[in-house]
Amino acid sequence: MKILHLDSSILGEASASRVLSAAVVEELLALHPTAQVSVRDLAQTPITHLDGAIAAGFRQPGTVAEDPAVRAEHALSETLVSELLDSDVIVLGVPMYNFSIPSQLKAWLDRIAQPGRTFRYTENGPVGLSGDKAVIVASTRGGMYSSGPAQVMDHQESYLKAFFGFLGIQRVRFVRAELLTKGAELRSKSMREALDGVAVVVAGLFAN
Ligand SMILES: Cc1cc2nc3c(=O)[nH]c(=O)nc-3n(C[C@H](O)[C@H](O)[C@H](O)COP(=O)(O)O)c2cc1C
Repeated sequence: MKILHLDSSILGEASASRVLSAAVVEELLALHPTAQVSVRDLAQTPITHLDGAIAAGFRQPGTVAEDPAVRAEHALSETLVSELLDSDVIVLGVPMYNFSIPSQLKAWLDRIAQPGRTFRYTENGPVGLSGDKAVIVASTRGGMYSSGPAQVMDHQESYLKAFFGFLGIQRVRFVRAELLTKGAELRSKSMREALDGVAVVVAGLFAN
């Protein structure tokens, strides 16, 4: 089994999503001790946001850039999509920022959504090409979005589910901690419950 572990929180040591994503990887390794883990810290080593020249590298077949810096970006796009395609389980640490995902994670998503590699359009609509993989999202939020009036403001989990579904990955699971900015007591309760739920999510990953 190959695990791809990505974190995207800007909060470093204080990050809650990093604690949860690390717990998910630890549990995966407990069940699959021979698994290989590749790690990318999207906050520490950010991926350049797409521009036309970078996107052309995978959206316009045959493009060879003259600028060596652009060629290096094209090579990075290839590395990132290959890493995804080569992995069986993708573990993402994803805080909610401004009702959505960190822009550092968006920059990664923009590199892996490649026509002909992870999806393609057909006469019958788009088809995902990413194979039989699973994504586990360690999702953290300051407020409450899994129920209540703010549910419609969730463009973090709902977006990731739709995005990976488009790439052909339907097996998207969430380990979630909410109310993290509503006092120390609620924060530690929420984190404890999320950590307690990790084993069940990991054990059931390929069950159905
Ligand atoms: C820049 C920024 C934007 C945030 N936006 C939201 C938000 O829209 N909704 C929310 O519930 N919490 C928001 N929060 C709170 C975080 O989701 C919460 O602190 C979470 O623990 C962050 O995960 P992390 O500790 O792994 O970074 C925001 C925090 C930051 C730093």
